[in-house]
Amino acid sequence: MKQIHVRCTRRQFLRSAAATAVLARGAMVHAAAPAVLANDPMRPQFHLLPAKNWMNDPNGPIYFNGRYHMFFQYNPQAAVWGNMSWDHAVSPDMLHWSHLPVAMTPTPGSPDAYGCFSGSAIQVGSRVYFVYTGTKESTPELATIRDGQNRIQESQCLAWSDDAGLIHWTKDPTPIVPRPPEGMNFTGFRDPSAWHQDGWYYMTVGSGEARVGGCVLLYRSKDMKHWEYLHPLASGAWNGKPTPNPCDDGSMWECPDFFALDGGHVLIYSTLGKVFWQSGVLDPAAMKFHPKKQGVLDLDAFYAPKTQLDAQGRRILWGWIRERRTDAQMRAAGWSGMMSLPRVLTLDRDGTLRMRILPRTATLRNGTIAAAATGTATTLTLPRATGELLCAGTKGSAFELTLTAASTPLMQIRYSPETHTVTANGKQIALEPGDAPTLHAFVDGSVVELIVGERIGYALRFYYTTATAPDVHARLTGTNVKVHAWKLNPISPNRLTT
Ligand code: FRU
Repeated sequence: MKQIHVRCTRRQFLRSAAATAVLARGAMVHAAAPAVLANDPMRPQFHLLPAKNWMNDPNGPIYFNGRYHMFFQYNPQAAVWGNMSWDHAVSPDMLHWSHLPVAMTPTPGSPDAYGCFSGSAIQVGSRVYFVYTGTKESTPELATIRDGQNRIQESQCLAWSDDAGLIHWTKDPTPIVPRPPEGMNFTGFRDPSAWHQDGWYYMTVGSGEARVGGCVLLYRSKDMKHWEYLHPLASGAWNGKPTPNPCDDGSMWECPDFFALDGGHVLIYSTLGKVFWQSGVLDPAAMKFHPKKQGVLDLDAFYAPKTQLDAQGRRILWGWIRERRTDAQMRAAGWSGMMSLPRVLTLDRDGTLRMRILPRTATLRNGTIAAAATGTATTLTLPRATGELLCAGTKGSAFELTLTAASTPLMQIRYSPETHTVTANGKQIALEPGDAPTLHAFVDGSVVELIVGERIGYALRFYYTTATAPDVHARLTGTNVKVHAWKLNPISPNRLTT
């Protein structure tokens, strides 16, 4: 239920024009001192997050000029959602990050006056473009976010940078797509993503129709500036239970990401508080996508992901790992949200999506953690809630792993050979027939980022009130199962507060 609470809080905020006005004047600014943040044991040590304040979706991750640039939704003024801007960090390896100046903030009186919402980046020659959603308060007729008293107009906007470090951004003052196509009762119109294919630029936009279902709108252009609407690239059904926020009933799809992978095509989108994937075939002449397989990307606090190609052409997935805390708690902490670790996506021959933590993450390892035999169990401890754990089971042999922070249970994970399923905190994951039951977990201050069977993530948040992080104890029972664990180096001396 906490999940719903956090979601509603952000959405209520989105609806409250009054709160926005107050925040814009800076009256609610909460400034947690860097030293307080650097000593907060719940702040991660090896996940990317801004130096302070609120973050959400990854935006426009791109490998450019030999470095990885990550932009993400950011509130420069508080540790709660608002004033949506694009913050910027840069990395040589997708693991170690330095903060750079905020790339884009809302421009008063412009199409993005209310916020620069999510979008993506595309390189054209030596220039990088952002396509993003500008939002502004509007009349009811032009509004595309109509839940509550607030009326927000979303339009697709363009910005570009010509400098090698992607520091300076110029916005096109006129939206490239000012409104959705005529004739549908739209539930939203945002989060563009662009790519180049056969002499055209294509762009998807997340959308949907009330009481019908979410969809992805497809556009094309020759020059990135003039766009023509084609048709929905994909669509789905709502869940039949109308909610004030269309994202909560499946009639609005957020943050679509569409890309070629291993001979097929994959679509990722976020709705119902979850992230879904579909794989299938793109008919390039008709530009229609025919999905054949589908699944869920993560079981808990992971939302609005986005992909990019890395230097070796691998498809890397990044997602927003959200909090499960109230606004008051986030304000008190002075920070909120983090980026997931990079996950490499591949497609099996049968179209099933596979997901592995970037192998290079192993360079953070700083010594192994020894396991001990305790009766019939194997036990080990990740000191101060930091470390990596790899549990390699065997198909056909049952095992159980529990993770406990001090004495509070975090995760209970069981592999059942009869059904070839993993059950994690009561959530069932069916493995593919050829899958080995592996569990790969990263514990970082207040998150367990777990990948089950290279198929699905489980980002779990946990909180405590002690001045230091609790030790996390692992206990493994079963047969034909091995566990390895490592201490991990932090990626900065001060939890990325500078
Ligand atoms: C997803 C989302 C996007 C939107 C952004 C606003 O979390 O709601 O649809 O562009 O966040 O911050």
